[in-house]
Amino acid sequence: MEVIIKNDATTLSAYAARLIRELIRRKPDATLGLATGGTPLLLYRELIRLHREEGLDFSFVSTFNLDEYLGLAPDHPASYHQYMRENFFNHVNVPPANIHIPSGQIQGDEIPEYCRRYEEEIQRAGGIDLQILGIGSDGHIGFNEPSSALTSRTRIKTLSPRTRQDNAPFFAGPGEVPHHVITMGVGTIMEAHHIVLLAFGEKKARAVAETVEGPISALCPSTILQMHPNATLLIDEPAAGKLQRSEYYRWVFDHKPGWQRVL
Ligand code: GLP
Repeated sequence: MEVIIKNDATTLSAYAARLIRELIRRKPDATLGLATGGTPLLLYRELIRLHREEGLDFSFVSTFNLDEYLGLAPDHPASYHQYMRENFFNHVNVPPANIHIPSGQIQGDEIPEYCRRYEEEIQRAGGIDLQILGIGSDGHIGFNEPSSALTSRTRIKTLSPRTRQDNAPFFAGPGEVPHHVITMGVGTIMEAHHIVLLAFGEKKARAVAETVEGPISALCPSTILQMHPNATLLIDEPAAGKLQRSEYYRWVFDHKPGWQRVL
């Protein structure tokens, strides 16, 4: 696990965007795993800039989103379909046929088969080359809430009261946040070749400390990233506030050999 601590979210988001740019230059038909929430907004803005100003070409890229609320139509203002259109897809040239976001409108016993097919489509696309992740204040990744099996696959999950409260600002009121979601599993996420997790703000400091330095536990699903061979954590100062070894992580980054540097 590589932990990179910088002052601000803008620098870290630009770094993540450059990782994606380098991947697409190397592999134009790369498959990206995409996240929602407040955290990746600056990353999407930077990718849009790279597309407009440097001609970063997404025309062969495929994307798979982590999750969606069940019960929301794709044009619901708080749906992740709407979020992705507004914040990214409307502004770059990913072909619509290459965009995959779990449907929020699957119901009842159709759900397991739908989730199985989502997994199959990821496999058909050759697996995820680079997965962007945010992190919930309780250490969830995607919508894999505490106690999620660390080998889990795409499936329905019930949101914790805390996550519903955290995400309430995106809805008309706290009671409007759906109880159920479809999310890629922890095991699905762990199969990505490279995982890039962004965490900004003091509210994430506890989850970040557990992810990097805590014991691996399903009670904090992000801790499984300690087992991933190629995970990069991009953390701002407030989110790094509870790390015990932050000086060491900074030292390691400052002494990276030149050939390993993306920047
Ligand atoms: C939601 C999403 C996660 C995201 C998390 C954090 O729960 N399903 O993928 O990481 O929110 O959101 P934010 O970035 O707004 O703090």
